[in-house]
Amino acid sequence: MGKKSTASVSKSKEKRQARKLEQYRIADGMTHVTSANKLTDLASLCKELLVYRNNDLDVEMYIQRVNDLEKSTLDWAIDLTERNMKKLYETCAWGWNKERKVEEMKDDSAWYLIAKDNTGALLAFSHFRFDMDFGIPVLYCYEVQVEAGGRRRGLGARVLRVLERLALATRMRCVRLTALTHNPAAAAFFRSCGYILDETSPALEEAAHYEILSKATEPEGEEIES
Ligand SMILES: CC(C)(COP(=O)(O)OP(=O)(O)OC[C@H]1O[C@@H](n2cnc3c(N)ncnc32)[C@H](O)[C@@H]1OP(=O)(O)O)[C@@H](O)C(=O)NCCC(=O)NCCS
Repeated sequence: MGKKSTASVSKSKEKRQARKLEQYRIADGMTHVTSANKLTDLASLCKELLVYRNNDLDVEMYIQRVNDLEKSTLDWAIDLTERNMKKLYETCAWGWNKERKVEEMKDDSAWYLIAKDNTGALLAFSHFRFDMDFGIPVLYCYEVQVEAGGRRRGLGARVLRVLERLALATRMRCVRLTALTHNPAAAAFFRSCGYILDETSPALEEAAHYEILSKATEPEGEEIES
């Protein structure tokens, strides 16, 4: 064993410091995720966005943890997901497994944004979570689903805006989501809302049927126009 040169000593010191910094960064991210999941009134962080009156829609939204949702509301969300997504899942490598989807939607860490019109009819929802993903704190959008009759009136875009505001207020680094590549309507929708291919998206040869999209958290008014 020879003596280490000054250059190699300072290189390993640099590596140790970088590792430590990375550990601090992850611990910091986890603190934000834990704090976000402890919040009891997410609505207060995005109040003015929860009312949406536009294009003949008069909608109010509310946010709840899955365990606080009324059973009939969760049943509707599961049913809407099946109506909207079953065929798309069946025609890709994932296949449709209702049991697995229900388990995912009922996970204790699930949050729900629910949109109702002024007659009380359920129109749209998002299932989202605050989580660490590839080492950073993110708001992961598991689902955004709009009833067929309520589409193309800006409601889906408003739902994403609420998620983006929540991500900003809770110090998540981005809103991240998984999209099926053979769902052109969703692709056009997410792109028009400013979502781009995420660095964690798998290479095409690894998985061609889905991609990861994201939108970085930006202080409002500073979003980069695409
Ligand atoms: C994708 C979905 C959530 C969009 O919701 P929406 O309320 O209809 O979307 P918006 O009205 O806010 O659309 C905003 C913009 O997105 C784009 N867009 C939305 N739907 C589109 C479609 N079917 N084709 C092309 N562009 C579309 C448009 O640019 C639109 O703006 P415009 O209507 O002024 O042209 C909705 O169609 C849906 O629930 N689809 C089935 C489920 C699904 O695929 N969910 C996403 C994967 S989890």
